[in-house]
Amino acid sequence: MFIGIDLGTSSVKTILIDHNQQILASSNSNLTVQSLKDGYSEQNPQEWIDATIECFENLILKKPKEFSETISIGISGHMHGATLLDKKGNVIRPCILWNDTRSHQECKEFENQTFDVRSISGNIAMPGFTAPKINWIKNNEFENFKKIYKVLLPKDYLRFYLTGEFFSEMSDASGTLWLDIKNRKWSKELLSCSFLEEDHMPKLVEGNHSTGELKKEFKNKFNFKNNVVVVGGAGDNAASAVGMGIINSSQSFISLGTSGVFFTPTTNYLSNTGDAVHSFCHCLPNKWHLMSVMLSASNCLDWISSITNTSIIEIFNNLESYFLDNTLIQNSSFFLPYLSGERTPHNDPYIRGSFHSIKTTTSAINMQYSVIEGVSFGILDGVNSILKVNNNFDNIYMVGGGSKSTFWIELLSTILNRKLNVCDQSEFGAALGVARLAMFQDKNIQNQTKIIETVKINKSYIPNDDKIDILIKRYNIWKNLYKSNMDIAKNLIT
Ligand code: XUL
Repeated sequence: MFIGIDLGTSSVKTILIDHNQQILASSNSNLTVQSLKDGYSEQNPQEWIDATIECFENLILKKPKEFSETISIGISGHMHGATLLDKKGNVIRPCILWNDTRSHQECKEFENQTFDVRSISGNIAMPGFTAPKINWIKNNEFENFKKIYKVLLPKDYLRFYLTGEFFSEMSDASGTLWLDIKNRKWSKELLSCSFLEEDHMPKLVEGNHSTGELKKEFKNKFNFKNNVVVVGGAGDNAASAVGMGIINSSQSFISLGTSGVFFTPTTNYLSNTGDAVHSFCHCLPNKWHLMSVMLSASNCLDWISSITNTSIIEIFNNLESYFLDNTLIQNSSFFLPYLSGERTPHNDPYIRGSFHSIKTTTSAINMQYSVIEGVSFGILDGVNSILKVNNNFDNIYMVGGGSKSTFWIELLSTILNRKLNVCDQSEFGAALGVARLAMFQDKNIQNQTKIIETVKINKSYIPNDDKIDILIKRYNIWKNLYKSNMDIAKNLIT
């Protein structure tokens, strides 16, 4: 048996799988995010531990015998978060998360060097990444900065708790800005931009390699029979990719989770910093990937659901019929989905969300449509940014909460003018991905190439020809709305 832990932004999800990759049991436990100010987003690492233990206890209740036979564990997590530890291994302050944009000034400081930062990091310094968060701490919380002994990514802190070891792996480490992406190693030069040294970093492995065993106390507490190995694992997006079998360059996926992601593997290192495309290592040796990231995807939906007092299921139901009527679509308002700034393609920490063209006839349902359409346009922006460096993908899979809505996938397929595939078990994508990585540690598996296969497609969606022109026209208007809002947005930040 193998366990996959996915430390998401809103919950920890765990699965227990057998050698045939059947999901024997799953368990979730919710997490909270603290937003003390506009642009701030933090989490208390103790919640990750409590939630993981709760999930393990639930898995034991569901499948005690199988759980105790676990061979290895993989961990995935939301990327970029800065978890700071002091010499005693204590957490210094709450973890600043991937969608926190407070460090936009520090991004300039980070890149203001005598050498070309981007040619090593492969990426623009964006506030979501780990490095500028450390520069912010140095500039604003110097007492905390002085205490830093190790900087760990969220899932690597969970690993440290479970194994006592300091390790990370290539895919998540790529999002720190301290990794030499092409050569898959920490860069002394990049670390120096945050006044850090290699000693502050965990050791690096590939995602399917071992990082040690569970501590004895956990082996006993959870009744494991074996010395359970914990593998490197992956950042959540690379993990989802592995969960669906997306490791080759003709494949790709869209994730409609808290963030909105378009992800496609590459056989070598490619980069497009001009459009704030993320150029990262994949979680398997000698593989890389490109990724566009929107900061607010399904959380725009959560937001409109709460302010219009309509459940998400009800919104999707209402919009199934709304989407049939082209006149309603044409008369809908527009929504810029930038609730906490945007990464790809704008790299703009100042922009915020807005509705445009509100009329006396605008209803709540109309605004709900505009929100989902605006997020989908943002995904198209991301796909277009990646197309500039790589047009080698044809097979797009859907993953994340949003992929459960027929309406949303139909809309997206039409906006992108591409076929979209929905597959079995997509809600466990990342957890399954790291459970698969864990399987590489089972000495009894003879043929490791069989571990990461493409999952079965449940249903494919094709563009609705009748709506392509309408939606492309609306996309072009929507794009201009960003352009005319970006300068205003700068002046609105308090
Ligand atoms: C990727 C990113 C998000 C987080 C949260 O760069 O910031 O996708 O990993 O899911």
